[in-house]
Amino acid sequence: MISVKKRINQKKVEFGDFQTPIELAAKIVNHLKEMKITPASIIEPTCGTGSFIIASLKSFSDAKILGFDVNSKYINSLSEQLTQDNTSKRVELHQADFFKTDWQEKIRELTEPVLILGNPPWVTSSGISVLGGTNIPEKCNIYSYQGLDTKTGKSNFDISEWMIIELLKALNGHLGTLAMLCKVTVARKILMYAKKEKLMVFSSKIHLIDAKEYFDASVDACLFICNLRPESHNYYSQVYEKFDSTNPIQEIGYIDERMVANISLYKKWKHLLGEGTYVWRSGIKHDCARVMELKRKENRFLNGFGTNVTIEDDYIYPMLKSSDLANDRTKNIERWMIVTQKSIGEDTSTIQQKAPLTWEYLEKNAHLFENRASSIYWNRPQYSIFGVGSYTFSPWKVAISGFYKDLKFRLIGPFEKKPVVFDDTCYFIPAKSLEEASMLHSILNHPIAHEFYHSFIYWDAKRPITKQILQQLDLKKLCPEIGYPRLLDFK
Ligand SMILES: C[S@@+](CC[C@H](N)C(=O)[O-])C[C@H]1O[C@@H](n2cnc3c(N)ncnc32)[C@H](O)[C@@H]1O
Repeated sequence: MISVKKRINQKKVEFGDFQTPIELAAKIVNHLKEMKITPASIIEPTCGTGSFIIASLKSFSDAKILGFDVNSKYINSLSEQLTQDNTSKRVELHQADFFKTDWQEKIRELTEPVLILGNPPWVTSSGISVLGGTNIPEKCNIYSYQGLDTKTGKSNFDISEWMIIELLKALNGHLGTLAMLCKVTVARKILMYAKKEKLMVFSSKIHLIDAKEYFDASVDACLFICNLRPESHNYYSQVYEKFDSTNPIQEIGYIDERMVANISLYKKWKHLLGEGTYVWRSGIKHDCARVMELKRKENRFLNGFGTNVTIEDDYIYPMLKSSDLANDRTKNIERWMIVTQKSIGEDTSTIQQKAPLTWEYLEKNAHLFENRASSIYWNRPQYSIFGVGSYTFSPWKVAISGFYKDLKFRLIGPFEKKPVVFDDTCYFIPAKSLEEASMLHSILNHPIAHEFYHSFIYWDAKRPITKQILQQLDLKKLCPEIGYPRLLDFK
């Protein structure tokens, strides 16, 4: 049976119930004042215990303030607290479910300029469904929002993203400002949505927030401020390191039909865009690490269950993970991977004859392969893997981790006369010789290549470096730029 404490915690997560400290709310409201935002009406759509309402009462002395929250306890205690305060006659509180509220109608009734202010719940739809929760929009057109996320095609989305988009749509066409705490990724998606739907954004900016300090959360958070004015269409957004920073650290935005992480670097190096002659590859995907990845200790192989594994040499290769590449632990390789195929879809039954011990080991663990959740393994030969091809067996490679916040390309050569393979969090370019790999290594680590990539990389993303980003730099165009005209000799 689930304990009361656990149930309370689950509810807290489902409703993203992490209240903003009053100091932060006050800082935000002061900042808005400094920006000369003078609202006639303020909406706090998920006001909770009311930090933003209390801060607004102090700083915006004339505005009418409307506060909403689904939790009646918060509404009742806040209203009790406010009755002791004379100024609070300007405040109207309502217990209301965000998803059942007609925000367009609410905003239409208000005097402009309108300020929408707050901190909507930070929880994802899949996080809620894991908890068996119901705090998601009933008829949400997730897929049209997720159309923004075409790369992953995932149906998971942030509840706050959904809420902020609803609020922006309702504010569209009015004179107003939206200032909300959210994840940085959410702010970016909203900017993309605004562009896609041609919302009337006059200006926007992102102030990074130390979520650890204020919420004890390890998440890249920000205050997203978006000013709306009729007939304005500006989809660039300045990013500031803190509240008090006066100079932006970068400007992100929509340009040339793409979302860019640094507009000035993008403009500087966009002539290097192209498909190029080299193809970036991902490491091997097998979803069965405890069986396929072995640690070598004193000439013995141990699998992820700590079991001794005795197999032939034919199918095992030295391997590096993201963390090895990021931390330059590339010389003394201890981990090995069983690579069951030379190309995608290759018949694996031949392993039985070629390497009977390997086959026996795989057969013993067959159930773990069968339990792999991803549908990519369905109707494929047994023990199939992905991210494999002739490039996997190139002796030389230039590789990078997709997960780490560091743009360091590593030169990787054979280990014990075998090509080194990578897990699927790494990307690499295969090379035929040390000379070719050295050249690729040096041009990719050139400051111009780094600046080019910086124009596309969002360092707060879970996987900041992607194959798609890496592929955009045309190495052929980069070479003359850095006085390295010999690239063409290799291709
Ligand atoms: C991150 S807290 C922030 C509270 C407050 N805005 C603040 O900044 O302190 C999120 C709030 O959203 C409320 N909430 C969650 N789901 C809601 C919904 N469907 N409708 C209205 N409020 C909701 C929670 O009760 C909680 O108070």
